Amino acid sequence: MSQDLYQAARQAMSKCHAPYSQFPVGAALRADDGRIYSGANIEVISYPEGWCAETTAISHMVMAGARRITEVLVVAEKMDACTPCGGCRQRLAEFADADVPVHLCDQNGIVRTVTMGELLPLAFDTEALK
Ligand code: THU
Repeated sequence: MSQDLYQAARQAMSKCHAPYSQFPVGAALRADDGRIYSGANIEVISYPEGWCAETTAISHMVMAGARRITEVLVVAEKMDACTPCGGCRQRLAEFADADVPVHLCDQNGIVRTVTMGELLPLAFDTEALK
């Protein structure tokens, strides 16, 4: 069922631009329009200006018109069960409810599944800004 997400993330990872870290990452999101959006990390010689695979995937989803994430998958070439960084957890939480599954992978497939709520407990969210 999540095999399509895994394949999309692997394919995205192969397109990473990570000449500085040599740490390729791929992410794939399933959205409520039924489509899969994927992305890779993109680094910049001024290091803080680069961004993560999850962020690339989110931008593809938003620009395609989708707004809600129903499933997330992350894979890294050199690390098993790579989790989204802190900034990406907040970005994912913008579009994903606390019960959305986040699949963490190795080179063969999913090794662990957690939820957005487990990744980002006590997430910043307030009616005052809505
Ligand atoms: N990276 C991601 O793309 N996603 C993550 O969840 C963790 C880290 C990238 C950022 C940078 O290009 C490289 O991995 C090393 O930190």
